[in-house]
Amino acid sequence: ASRDMLRSALLAASRSGALRTFAEDSPLLRPVVDRFVAGTTVDEAVAAARALVADRLVTVDHLGEDTTEPEQAAATVEAYLVLLRRLSDDGLADRVEVSVKLSALGQSLPGGDAGKIALDHARRICEAAHAAGTTVTVDMEGHTTTDSTLGIVRELRVDHPWVGAVVQAALRRTEGDCRELAGSRVRLCKGAYDEPASVAFRERAEVDRSFVRCLRILMAGSGLPMVATHDPVLIDIARHLGRGRPYELQMLHGVRPGEQRALAAAGERVRVYLPYGAQWYGYLVRRLAERPANLAFFARSLLTK
Ligand code: FDA
Repeated sequence: ASRDMLRSALLAASRSGALRTFAEDSPLLRPVVDRFVAGTTVDEAVAAARALVADRLVTVDHLGEDTTEPEQAAATVEAYLVLLRRLSDDGLADRVEVSVKLSALGQSLPGGDAGKIALDHARRICEAAHAAGTTVTVDMEGHTTTDSTLGIVRELRVDHPWVGAVVQAALRRTEGDCRELAGSRVRLCKGAYDEPASVAFRERAEVDRSFVRCLRILMAGSGLPMVATHDPVLIDIARHLGRGRPYELQMLHGVRPGEQRALAAAGERVRVYLPYGAQWYGYLVRRLAERPANLAFFARSLLTK
């Protein structure tokens, strides 16, 4: 119970604008940031991706979310266009795709046309990805955005059927979403947001069982299941259910890197989610909420300064 309280408190802190401004400016946090984030510049992101593609695939995420300034959303699009150009020029586009958060592209702007702005921005990124010879996966955020996000993915897929969707096993609706999406590229994860019991499973065991039900649906479909978890039991189940068919295992940069390499060496298709950029606060605090050990690592790095 105390672990759940810590998780909820951290997930609440992950949305605090004041803490975020303070943290992103603080050099004290650099060691823990560096473990999970591939630097702040496109050069650093490309260098980290180049090191990983020796044995793994990569999806690069430009950090940022819940943008309320139109200029910031436009700047995020430009950052992705520069990144995609670099991936293409450097010959990495066949092994490196990008992940985008619609709330960084305008989905949470005030006003009635936020969804349309996010769609237009995402479309420009998809066109650039297509030109570069790679793909885009649209991350999933809090449950109030699920319908809007899946709607935008559906629209993007009219021109770009390879666009990846993400579903969260924690949500009660997700089995149904898996049935609809099983013919396409779908990333299945547990879900990183603090959701109410009305829409989400709150017990870890319930989330795990939902994950397995969703896996069965996706692995029976004709699409590409992308199994995003560090959980060794769920990875084993995925490998078993996926025998003889295409699928990907996906993990976060900095989490279980040894296991990532071992799975790749065993012949698995492993993709690393690689975030970069200055706005790392929300991402990092969600990682701390997932694993109290990460919090201890963080506290130690502060104390030994
Ligand atoms: P969980 O955190 O429950 O851990 C399960 C087990 O994994 C642990 O008991 C331990 O055995 C092992 N483990 C985990 N971390 C470890 C570590 N550091 N060292 C050793 N063992 C460890 N979420 C979302 O809401 N929207 C999204 O779009 C995405 N996208 C995404 C992409 C990718 C590639 C990944 C891997 C994850 C996401 N997520 C996400 C995050 C996801 O929803 C979830 O919050 C985290 O992956 C943590 O959940 P796990 O499934 O890893 O298991």
